[in-house]
Amino acid sequence: MAEVVILDSRAAAGALVADEIVRLVDEVRNPVLGLATGSTPLPVYEALRERLAGHDVSHVRGFALDEYVGLDVTHPESYRSVITREVIEPLGLDPELIRVPNGALETVRHAGDDYEREIIDAGGVDLQILGIGTDGHIGFNEPGSSFASTTRLKTLTEQTRADNARFFDSLDEVPRHCITQGLGTILRARHLVLLAFGDAKAEAVAAALEGPVSAMIPASAVQLHPHVTVVVDEAAASRLELADYYRYSYENKPSWQGI
Ligand code: F6R
Repeated sequence: MAEVVILDSRAAAGALVADEIVRLVDEVRNPVLGLATGSTPLPVYEALRERLAGHDVSHVRGFALDEYVGLDVTHPESYRSVITREVIEPLGLDPELIRVPNGALETVRHAGDDYEREIIDAGGVDLQILGIGTDGHIGFNEPGSSFASTTRLKTLTEQTRADNARFFDSLDEVPRHCITQGLGTILRARHLVLLAFGDAKAEAVAAALEGPVSAMIPASAVQLHPHVTVVVDEAAASRLELADYYRYSYENKPSWQGI
C-alpha cells in the first residue's frame, strides 16, 4: 500500500519531498524528475530553491506531466511557461534537459509517441510528483482513462476547466484539450509522490487510496504501484478511514527507511 504521510502544513510537505529530490540529485548518476504543474507542487519547488543552492544540477533531467493543446507556449499559463518560471529558472536547471509535451495543434498527432520515446531514452522517471484533481485525475487523465494509456491528447472535463479557470482571465480562455502522460506512463515511474492539500481534495484522495481501483478515479491507479508516497495536510486527509493507522505507521517508521 501507499505510505500516507499526514503533515500540518504545505511547507512541511514541500520540505519532505524536496529532501528526497535532493538525495536523488546528489546520489543518482542521471536523475530524472517527473514534474507536475498547478498549485500543489509549488511548496516542493519553493523548498528546493534553498536546498539545491550550491548542488550540481547540470545533469538533472525532467519531464512535465502535461500541457494544454492549442495554447501558445509563450502564454504565461502554458505549462512550458509555468515550468520555466517555477522550476527551471529558480533551480538553475538546464532548459534543454527539461521537457514538456508539445501541445502545438500541427504536431499533436505524433507528439505523444515522441514524448514516450524521450522518457524511455532518458532511462525512465525516478521520482514522479503528482497532484490530484477534484475529479480524481492525475496528470490530465480524466475519469474513464485507461490504466494502460500513454501520452496522448485528452479532452478536459468541465470540472477541470472550471477548477483551472483561476489561472486565466475567464473560463472561456481555458483550453478544452491537453496532451498528458497516460496512467501507464505514470505507473512506469520508479517512485510516485502524490501531494494534496485542502478540503476540496479530501474526497478524491479517499477515493483514490481507499476506494476500489477504477478508471472512474484515475488516481486509484497508484494502488497498483509498488512505491508510492502520499503527502497530505490534515484537510486533504480528513476523509481517510485509516488516517490513524497512517499516522501510527509514520511515527513508528524505522529511521533507516526513506520515503
Ligand atoms: C498538473 C496536473 C494536474 C494537477 C491537478 C491538481 O500538471 O497534472 O493533475 O496536479 O489538476 O491541480 P492543483 O494542484 O492546481 O490543484
